[in-house]
Amino acid sequence: MQIFGVDIGGSGIKGAPVDLDRGDLAQERHKVLTPQPATPEGVADRVREVVGHFDWTGPVGVTFPGVITNGTARTAANVDKSWIGTDIRSLLADRLGGPSQCPVTVLNDADAAGVAEMHFGAGRDRTGTVILLTFGTGIGSAVFTGGRLVPNTELGHLELNGHDAEKKASSKAREDEDLSWEHWARRVQKYLAHVEMLFSPELFIIGGGVSRKAHKFLPLIEGIRAELVPAELQNNAGIVGAAMAAAGRA
Ligand code: BGC
Repeated sequence: MQIFGVDIGGSGIKGAPVDLDRGDLAQERHKVLTPQPATPEGVADRVREVVGHFDWTGPVGVTFPGVITNGTARTAANVDKSWIGTDIRSLLADRLGGPSQCPVTVLNDADAAGVAEMHFGAGRDRTGTVILLTFGTGIGSAVFTGGRLVPNTELGHLELNGHDAEKKASSKAREDEDLSWEHWARRVQKYLAHVEMLFSPELFIIGGGVSRKAHKFLPLIEGIRAELVPAELQNNAGIVGAAMAAAGRA
């Protein structure tokens, strides 16, 4: 079975039909640049471009980098504030020809990546508490127990040394402050220790673009009881998870 998945990010919007049996893209994904400013109307046009590229009709799952309840954005930490209160589900379904043509399901980006990792990646067959953290522009989180997602956990906004944690420990913070891997790993370690104190997970899955460079920083992290592994699906986890959610498999 195939369902379309779209991942809305700060710099790019990418999507493809997903083969839900394999947990992988059924065709090469199509990517367009996120408009700046990334307003709901501008992004909706680009999502139409991505879905239209494949002449797709049918369910579409979409990720968004903020809290989502009932298809509506409730926060927008790293995107245009005009998203807050936007009914993304209706906006996108209308732009894609109406809900009978393309019914839309929306979920948080880290939750989508987590759903994909739990089924097809590093979290397969894990029934204890598992936390996926994505390190990118911000820090996203997805918490699972018994294989079920607790949506919208937003652990990237925990306090770390008196700051919003993602401002100090995201991948963007490492780049902006030109931190060495050692220096950044110390911050990530402190952050993980805090999350571990709250949830005692059996497994941390580290996702986001930086997971490709996991060998540079994961070995530097000490003192965490939980197992610590890089995400396996990497770049396509959001697209796959979005499609799974649209198929009712989140
Ligand atoms: C947002 C989260 C999102 C994360 C990763 C954070 O700033 O609040 O909702 O999952 O960034 O994009």
